[in-house]
Amino acid sequence: MKTKTSHSLAVTLRLLLICLVSLTTSTFAEDKAEKLTILVTGANRGLGLEYAKQYRAGGHQVIGTARKPDEAVELKATGAEVVKLDVTDDEDIANLAKGLKGRRIDVLINNAGYLSRDQTREALTLSFSVNTLGPLFVSRALTPNLQLSDAPKVINVSSRAGRLTDGTGNMTGYAISKTAVNMVTRNLHSQLNEKGFVVISLAPGRNQTAMGGKGAPLKPEESVSQIIKFIASLDQTHSGGFWYYDGTELEW
Ligand SMILES: NC(=O)c1ccc[n+]([C@@H]2O[C@H](COP(=O)([O-])OP(=O)(O)OC[C@H]3O[C@@H](n4cnc5c(N)ncnc54)[C@H](OP(=O)(O)O)[C@@H]3O)[C@@H](O)[C@H]2O)c1
Repeated sequence: MKTKTSHSLAVTLRLLLICLVSLTTSTFAEDKAEKLTILVTGANRGLGLEYAKQYRAGGHQVIGTARKPDEAVELKATGAEVVKLDVTDDEDIANLAKGLKGRRIDVLINNAGYLSRDQTREALTLSFSVNTLGPLFVSRALTPNLQLSDAPKVINVSSRAGRLTDGTGNMTGYAISKTAVNMVTRNLHSQLNEKGFVVISLAPGRNQTAMGGKGAPLKPEESVSQIIKFIASLDQTHSGGFWYYDGTELEW
């Protein structure tokens, strides 16, 4: 009788142990999947804020940048880490890299953007500084952080307005700066792809934000949710390409 009881106790203990081991293993596996760190520029409003909301809801770490961190109330509410960054300011970029030294970044979304219909040299120069040189300098500054990732991804937010096959419209500064950011993508791809990076240009589609206007066909929640799935699916075959928010390839 005593032997039978101790046998069933041993069986129960073994089963408990197996459950515990499999529970711990699956928790570790989920933890691994959850622990991506995403850096999003211009994350205080519009599509940038939506990336922060959705990545946080998915359990990821988000570093969201804002020109005025004190005013980035909604971004802070997502649980994202908020860092000051004007992408046209070299000192801000240097401080960002310094503050993040040694920290892994898995996905960099160069999202901050500027649109003006103003045709002055000043406005066109600012378009280049934000939309083209911003992604270039931020990517360069954070390359050491991205190199700490197993699968680093750089997403340069572009626009269909920058396609060479388009060329219409009165948003000259915006269009030419987005065409040029596509070359930034090609250039970074050629330098970083051999190090395992995936670098793409992404057009998020016309969205209902301050930039896209209320009449835009897409809601940020919908397009960003598709973009996040697309980013998760990216592999080396996508690198150096120009992609729409739904994962279809675009002509340059
Ligand atoms: N919405 C669309 O329909 C659409 C379509 C195609 C492509 N895109 C692209 O998608 C991205 C996000 O667009 P969105 O619609 O979310 O625009 P948005 O609502 O106008 O937001 C723009 C974001 O960029 C930031 N930003 C502007 N200048 C900056 C600078 N010098 N340094 C750092 N951040 C700066 C803004 O910060 P502040 O709040 O400080 O100004 C804001 O966070 C942009 O690259 C845009 O070109 C948008």
